Amino acid sequence: MDNETFRRHAHEIVDWMADYMGDVESYPVRAQVRPGDIAAQLPMAAPDAPEPMDAIFQDFKDIVMPGITHWQHPSFFAYFPANSSPPSVLAEMLTATLAANCLLWQTSPAATEMETRILDWLRQMIGLDDGFTGVIQDSASSASLCAILTARERATEWRANENGLSEAAPLSIYASTETHSSVEKDAKVAGIGRQFVRKISVDSNFAMRPDELAQAIAVDRAEGVTPAMVVATLGTTGVGAIDPLRAIGDICKREDLYLHVDAAWAGSALILDDYRWMIDGIEAVDSFVFNPHKWLLTNFDCSAHFIRDPDALVRTLSILPEYLKTQTADDVIDYRDWSVPLGRRFRALKLWFVLRSYGVDGLRRMIADHITWAEELAGLVDAAPDFEIASKRNLALFNFRYRPMSLDNESEIDALNETLLNAINDDGRLYLTQNRVNGRYVIRFCVGQTNTTRDHVLGAWDVIQEIARGL
Ligand SMILES: Cc1ncc(COP(=O)(O)O)c(C=O)c1O
Repeated sequence: MDNETFRRHAHEIVDWMADYMGDVESYPVRAQVRPGDIAAQLPMAAPDAPEPMDAIFQDFKDIVMPGITHWQHPSFFAYFPANSSPPSVLAEMLTATLAANCLLWQTSPAATEMETRILDWLRQMIGLDDGFTGVIQDSASSASLCAILTARERATEWRANENGLSEAAPLSIYASTETHSSVEKDAKVAGIGRQFVRKISVDSNFAMRPDELAQAIAVDRAEGVTPAMVVATLGTTGVGAIDPLRAIGDICKREDLYLHVDAAWAGSALILDDYRWMIDGIEAVDSFVFNPHKWLLTNFDCSAHFIRDPDALVRTLSILPEYLKTQTADDVIDYRDWSVPLGRRFRALKLWFVLRSYGVDGLRRMIADHITWAEELAGLVDAAPDFEIASKRNLALFNFRYRPMSLDNESEIDALNETLLNAINDDGRLYLTQNRVNGRYVIRFCVGQTNTTRDHVLGAWDVIQEIARGL
């Protein structure tokens, strides 16, 4: 494609992008296609002859768009948000244009130096002390994997990397029963083994019980298992529970365990002073991850990973073949050994665009609004005679259940809620997802999309009631 043709199509596509952002509410939130509908429209092999961009773009509109779930729709209340913003999209366009692979300082000094500086901005914004150094990972799962690998090396006195795990005693990791599945996946990848992720029971707020943690560690030690680390969560995926960092940290200090904090979603709320209590006890934390790509207007993917001892992480991941050696290695940061993949996108640019465009105050206002509206909605649900709150609101997340007075059989109520959720998502005006709370099927509601307003949140309640009562 020559440059003038690129320019023409780029203008056309940017116009389409701006129209989409303006019209996103006109789409059903969750894609309304059936499995195989999109694949049936795609040829079985790549074309031999080149095709014009006009045809490709037309197919994008005709084939791809019906199969898109609109995460940027203001009535997206499912999962956790992956909220984006126009400044972030602009930066992503530049990143794609530069297409730099920022594995070493010298492969794009601006990317490295901006990453260091912007992560320090974020560190200050969320109230972490200056003993933490930041790096951007592609996902919270990757950051937690880095933490688990570092803890594994620490617990085996740096031998596992060299000799494998066969000569070491089994290692164990402790996380609550509400922890995200990525911790188990990471433990599988790290060779720890899924069964050695000890699931610690939770209290009535679904937060990890420190007494149960201490006991599980003691049992493991008595049985010849080596406790290596604890993963505490701020904002669990199901109910948004906050594990008690200070009590967990005291145990980690006493037992000499690595402490990693997964704050993938809730970490963004730390920019509000009102939520700083969540990191009471941060002094004992070795690493911390949160995702600006969830709730800080920054396009997926962008996970901020903060580490107390970057040397330990680099020692864990470092490997230096001749072709990666540089003359500046002693003077700069080369992020190649701060993550599992070698290649790295220039992700700091979109954070820079977002933080400057909105200012910290703008971001604070957005998160505070989301929390306020979630609180308001949870109050309405609680007050409705045929609905109940299944898990109390934490930040902008709560779970609820439809419970008509005529029903008291719990399994029938489960089935009814599943039917209700499917009906809501098939209707297309909202998108919500399911959860289990104390074994019961419930509907989860999370506010966090960029364009969501109070009217969208309250309007969602009208839609939910209308569909429920029409079942
Ligand atoms: C608490 C928690 N941790 C980790 C993750 C995984 O995040 P990522 O997709 O960035 O790996 C999620 C995803 O929603 C999450 O809710």
